[in-house]
Amino acid sequence: MKNQTLRDAVIRELIRMAMKAREQSYCPYSRFAVGAALLLGDGRIVTGCNIENAAYSPGNCAERTAIFKAVSEGNREFSAIAVVGGPAGKDPSSVCTPCGMCRQVLMEFCHPETFTIICAKDPETYQLYSLEEMLPAGFGPASLTVEMQVEDET
Ligand code: THU
Repeated sequence: MKNQTLRDAVIRELIRMAMKAREQSYCPYSRFAVGAALLLGDGRIVTGCNIENAAYSPGNCAERTAIFKAVSEGNREFSAIAVVGGPAGKDPSSVCTPCGMCRQVLMEFCHPETFTIICAKDPETYQLYSLEEMLPAGFGPASLTVEMQVEDET
């Protein structure tokens, strides 16, 4: 990632909180446990884990759990998210990247160039990406506004 503005200590704290949130993962079907920690614009951190379901489709990823928790509590400004995932009951063997649906949900609230996605294995092993890198040319609220303006002009 080009512009690293997040301090190392903040990155490591987000990863630690994502690891802690991962302990709450409810994943009896995939046995793949994920935790996420979302950094709000004011410095607070909201966490989430994946929550699966016997009907499969209603399951929710850790990232979206954190985002929906935060938005439902009145927060819409986000700076970064850390994600940690791997086989349940074990330490992850590699970094975990967000699924496409979570990238799209991030696109709704986060600036593609400044929002940082921390794909982590542990506090010392991680990769940083901007949302723009993870969802190039993504469709977000601004795209819809442009479309509506074009419609208004015709
Ligand atoms: N999962 C997440 O929670 N976040 C990711 O970034 C990747 C996948 C969850 C969804 C499902 O509960 C399990 O991991 C296996 O795909």
